[in-house]
Amino acid sequence: MGDRFAGKTVFVAGASSGINLAIAHGFGSEGAKVVVLSRSAEKIEAAAQGLRDAGVDAFGIACDVRDYPGLEAAYAQTAERYGKIDVLISGAAGNFLAPAIKMSANAFKTVIDIDLLGTFNVFRASFDHLNKPGASLIAITAGQAVHPMSFQVHACAAKAGVNMVTKCLALEWGPAGVRVNAISPGPIADTEGMARLADPVREKQIKGRLALRDYGQKTDIADAAMYLSSDAAKYVTGTILNVDGGSDLGDASANALAQ
Ligand code: HXC
Ligand code: NAP
Repeated sequence: MGDRFAGKTVFVAGASSGINLAIAHGFGSEGAKVVVLSRSAEKIEAAAQGLRDAGVDAFGIACDVRDYPGLEAAYAQTAERYGKIDVLISGAAGNFLAPAIKMSANAFKTVIDIDLLGTFNVFRASFDHLNKPGASLIAITAGQAVHPMSFQVHACAAKAGVNMVTKCLALEWGPAGVRVNAISPGPIADTEGMARLADPVREKQIKGRLALRDYGQKTDIADAAMYLSSDAAKYVTGTILNVDGGSDLGDASANALAQ
């Protein structure tokens, strides 16, 4: 256990599994008090128990990020137990592969509501509960925000919006001493996102197109979140930080020809 975030309160939305749960563990292992939130009471309680088992002062809240009054209640509960929030992560997301022609309007709306409206809700409802100046807000976006992808019209549109929410709030809330950034993970091993979107049979091919030739680890994203929330990033706001092995650069398989 370290102490880089000792005395700080970290709130992670969408944290019952995967990348966001790893972020919660990262901050917890550095001394932070951690609140984790997701829809499923059972899953979020298991996640909170896992944090406590690791020695972290933590509790879980079951709430859907589409439920604005529910988020207000979650922040009130956090204030009561841990005081103001120093670090807030908005990472709840839903995704599935579907061609636009087979995607109902409600399927499109569902992903927009979870990823985009959910990020606005998570950030907007928190404002009065943030430790200002000094709070660090981080949205978890994806490469789909800037790179169009087949069968991903919902996620591409939602994550593009998440990038703009990040930048607009950075502009508006900077004067209050609130920094707002986003992390754009590349393909991260052992995650639900990869299970839903990437065919394991094509793993070698996918890795071969990445400049760094490998999938990332969940801890890579946790490390980036801790960097963005540290004093080392005190002059960084409105940034979309790619933590993606070079995925954003495009297909790097051609480089192999020159080697
Ligand atoms: C077409 C689908 C569908 C599918 C659901 N729908 N799955 N349409 N293909 N595979 C449609 C439904 O038919 C319905 O439309 C509408 O979507 C809403 O479905 P519900 O099941 O009612 O929604 P809900 O219970 O809110 O669940 C949301 C969900 C679900 C997104 C559909 O999969 C979920 O809860 N996901 C959370 C976990 C997750 O997705 N993790 C991955 C995040 S990773 P109709 O018209 O029938 O009413 C990520 C990847 C980043 O974002 C990049 C990685 C490389
Ligand atoms: P994951 O394990 O499925 O995480 C998604 C989390 O969001 C779960 O804890 C889920 O818990 C919660 N959630 C979903 N809908 C919610 C809602 N409406 N309200 C509250 N919580 C909700 O997926 P992951 O792959 O680790 O992805 C995490 C984040 O990284 C996402 O933002 C994703 O877009 C981004 N990302 C992932 C990758 C990757 O390689 N995996 C790449 C780029 C970006 P409940 O089911 O309990 O609600």
